[in-house]
Amino acid sequence: MLRAMPERPVSTLNNPDVALEITLRPSLFSDFTGQPKVKERLEIAVTAAQQRKEALDHILLSGPPGLGKTTIANILAKAMGGNLKATSGPTIEKAADLAGLLTNLEEGDVLFIDEIHRLQKTIEEYLYPAMEDFKLDIIIDQGPNARSVRLNLPRFTLIGATTRSGLLTAPLLTRFGMRERLDYYVTEDLEKIVVRSARLLNVEIDAKGAHEIARRSRGTPRIVNNLLRRVRDFAQVRHDGRITGEIADLALAMLEIDQNGLDEMDKRILEAIIVKFGGGPVGVSSLAVAVGEEPDTIEEVYEPYLIMEGYLNRTAQGRVATALSYQKLGLKAATGNQAKLF
Ligand SMILES: Nc1ncnc2c1ncn2[C@@H]1O[C@H](COP(=O)(O)OP(=O)(O)OP(=O)(O)O)[C@@H](O)[C@H]1O
Ligand SMILES: [Mg+2]
Repeated sequence: MLRAMPERPVSTLNNPDVALEITLRPSLFSDFTGQPKVKERLEIAVTAAQQRKEALDHILLSGPPGLGKTTIANILAKAMGGNLKATSGPTIEKAADLAGLLTNLEEGDVLFIDEIHRLQKTIEEYLYPAMEDFKLDIIIDQGPNARSVRLNLPRFTLIGATTRSGLLTAPLLTRFGMRERLDYYVTEDLEKIVVRSARLLNVEIDAKGAHEIARRSRGTPRIVNNLLRRVRDFAQVRHDGRITGEIADLALAMLEIDQNGLDEMDKRILEAIIVKFGGGPVGVSSLAVAVGEEPDTIEEVYEPYLIMEGYLNRTAQGRVATALSYQKLGLKAATGNQAKLF
């Protein structure tokens, strides 16, 4: 059984509705759309481990929020026929917490550690022999009686998830046999996800409606599902419940999701860089104060998409707005390169 996990604060659009997430979350690889290369490698690893009757290698899943890391961990545990025990980096406070988790595992179980980059270094060190040799060294008693006891652990699979793989230490990184990075989804895949979710939610949607929601979802399945739910409300209250391209467009405009899928916070970030910091470069902490958001959230949730879409550059000196950002906000660059780009 999955244990409730504390979610870190993220943007409103990224905030999962727990019940919805559970119904819409695919539980088999065959229902998991997109990420073809990652899926292929993981499916091969599962089949090979099953054929050899071994536990799956430890796997690290990284990538921005809402792209399917937790979903994949669940799919893998189910495919291997083991249980998934879920925890997260910040909730493991003492070595004893980790020992409790590890000693309760059974052969073939998956231990899922979300936000593994937030694991304390002292705890990390206990994890090394556990991952490598399936052994756990614990100290029992104190003072002169203190002694180290080595426990044998069952062959388990550690699945770590992180939005910031760059923050993981080298020794931890190298102990994962597989490291997979999830990328933003292409629109066609998001369309398939909308259609599947609409079917599960019993909402009628046409191809144009699905396309409109998909292309304005920042490449993110969680956002696609959240927008679908909002558009469904709108279609139900203001129209006959069916989602067409036109209805989706009206609903998304009401939600202030623009034509390129940028939400209010995205635009506030771009505007702050341009208006308050003269186009940049500006450091992430100053930017965070200016828009009233956590630096981590800016870095993990907003920036990756803005960079991918070409609105923002990350330089050694800080964040710089591109010509596209000026265009987007209908602003003219004041001086220098930006003006020439325009
Ligand atoms: N490939 C997919 N196909 C269909 N739905 C998906 C897919 N990936 C994710 N989803 C949907 O998006 C939701 C969010 O995915 P998930 O919780 O796995 O993201 P995450 O990467 O773990 O995010 P976080 O970093 O915030 O923990 C899921 O509940 C599921 O409904
Ligand atoms: Mg998750």
